[in-house]
Amino acid sequence: MKLIYLGHSVFMIEEGDFKAIIDPFLNGNPSSPLKPADITELTHIFVTHGHGDHIGDSVELAKNNNALVITNAEISGYLSEKGVKTHAMHIGGRYKFDFGTVKLTPALHGSAIPTENGPRDGGNPCGFIIEVNGKKIYHAGDTGLTMDMILLEVEDVDVALIPIGGNYTMDITDALRAVEFVKPKLTIPMHYGTFPVITADPQEFKRRNKLTDTVILNPGQVYEF
Ligand code: NI
Ligand code: MN
Repeated sequence: MKLIYLGHSVFMIEEGDFKAIIDPFLNGNPSSPLKPADITELTHIFVTHGHGDHIGDSVELAKNNNALVITNAEISGYLSEKGVKTHAMHIGGRYKFDFGTVKLTPALHGSAIPTENGPRDGGNPCGFIIEVNGKKIYHAGDTGLTMDMILLEVEDVDVALIPIGGNYTMDITDALRAVEFVKPKLTIPMHYGTFPVITADPQEFKRRNKLTDTVILNPGQVYEF
């Protein structure tokens, strides 16, 4: 399985015919090496919450690729109105797709969708546990530290994608506690450095993380497992 980092909280997952992107914030993302037009043969899009730096270019990507968007019911409703194919789920729900299994996890954050007519209710923000071919990825979304993360230990997560940037989400100290709760095999930090208010040093996170291996990906880099 290939995990490709595109900066901020944007990851692509490639495994056989399955080609997905999580939180596709490409236009306006100073750290993304790719624009929506660069991405082809996309099959699925995951959206953790409605904020612009996460819903991002979902509409354009979904339409260009005829990709299915998997997200909460409120964001699904919004995207359906835009002519996008969606699969609505909600917090705690798990569903078996043809490519594997997806579970929505709780996130402690907001989820308003910016629209031409002002903000629109984007339901509850979430994270995702995505299992493909027996390999499990946890994308935490934007979240503060929450006790609910303890419940994820039994999931046996292989790779956890954890925000460390602070201000809007966990900082490094809280992210380390999240790792303690989830106990993944490996951790990749995200949601840092994109904007001045979320400046954090991933090397500091790596140095202080004694519980799991840490892989720091630069935008455009690939981790294969
Ligand atoms: Ni957010
Ligand atoms: Mn964010």
